[in-house]
Amino acid sequence: MVASLSGAQIRQTFLDFYAAKGHKILPSASLVPEDPTVLLTIAGMLPFKPIFLGQREAEVSRATTSQKCIRTNDIENVGKTARHHTYFEMLGNFSFGDYFKEEAIAWAWELSTEVYKLPPERLIPSVFSEDDEAFAIWRDKIGIPEHRIQRMGAEDNFWASGPTGPCGPCSELYYDFHPEKGDEKIDLEDDSRFIEYYNLVFMEYNRDSDGKLSPLKNKNIDTGMGLERMAQILQGVPNNYETDLIFPIIEAAAQIAGIKYQKAKAKTKISLKVIGDHVRSVVQMIADGITASNVGRGYVLRRLIRRVVRHGQLVGIDGAFITQVAETAIASLEVAYPEVREREKSSKLSWSGKNRNS
Ligand code: ALA
Repeated sequence: MVASLSGAQIRQTFLDFYAAKGHKILPSASLVPEDPTVLLTIAGMLPFKPIFLGQREAEVSRATTSQKCIRTNDIENVGKTARHHTYFEMLGNFSFGDYFKEEAIAWAWELSTEVYKLPPERLIPSVFSEDDEAFAIWRDKIGIPEHRIQRMGAEDNFWASGPTGPCGPCSELYYDFHPEKGDEKIDLEDDSRFIEYYNLVFMEYNRDSDGKLSPLKNKNIDTGMGLERMAQILQGVPNNYETDLIFPIIEAAAQIAGIKYQKAKAKTKISLKVIGDHVRSVVQMIADGITASNVGRGYVLRRLIRRVVRHGQLVGIDGAFITQVAETAIASLEVAYPEVREREKSSKLSWSGKNRNS
């Protein structure tokens, strides 16, 4: 039996586990990144990029965070697949020139199997095709049979935050929803069977604008566990939207529309899922000081709000409803991000469009 945990418990359990391994728990950075190469914070490592690049000294050698992230490259898939989001939380453990592959792999395994209690026979690791060292750690230190360790190419198992900058080979952990299908045909791309839930990046190179890799000053660890994905696994629900992190928002929207999610048609369910996802983005963006506009991240916010309104109309809601569903999102998010509640009052200005300055 996997551990039965709420989203909030999964998040805290991760942070506590790594705190006990000498990591300092740091607060999430803003969604508005210092890094000028991206509009929004897209990964847990982003606030640490200057440390990986040797441009800033790390104050601690080990850190752990629950980072609020927004990625909009898959926005059209939100609600249609089981696990595409704009807003998600990335749980991460980081080593700045301290531990490397062996500890990162051993702790990811320990956390997965002993704390979250995922059955080992349901877990499949992947490694970068050339990374014999990571392969050997999974085989010899963790005891995974060779045929279950999947070697994958650079497109899947070499991670970078952008075309240039810190990067490195990675090793991912997948959960198998259908172990009865056996080991003969393990296809990790089959997302009806597998979900990738934890990515361990062995951050040891810098890529320059010519694509050339050079070693970073230190060998670092950057990891990301998808909170919503782990919640789907531990809560035994068919998709990320039906976890306790998002479902209350869906139910709030359904109630305003006077419908029941479970009885709704597929298209209506998609609209409710879009609302559930986007409202979390909207709340967190406004709490981080973003206001709707025609450019940059303000445009992203505007687009998300428009999509919420449109999908609200599609499910039969007349009139304004975002602040009502936002309240449900705030109540859930404030557990880990108290600033969301603290900034609620001042942010009301931007809801009403009176504070458009970004
Ligand atoms: N930075 C890695 C990712 O975003 C962990 O997947």
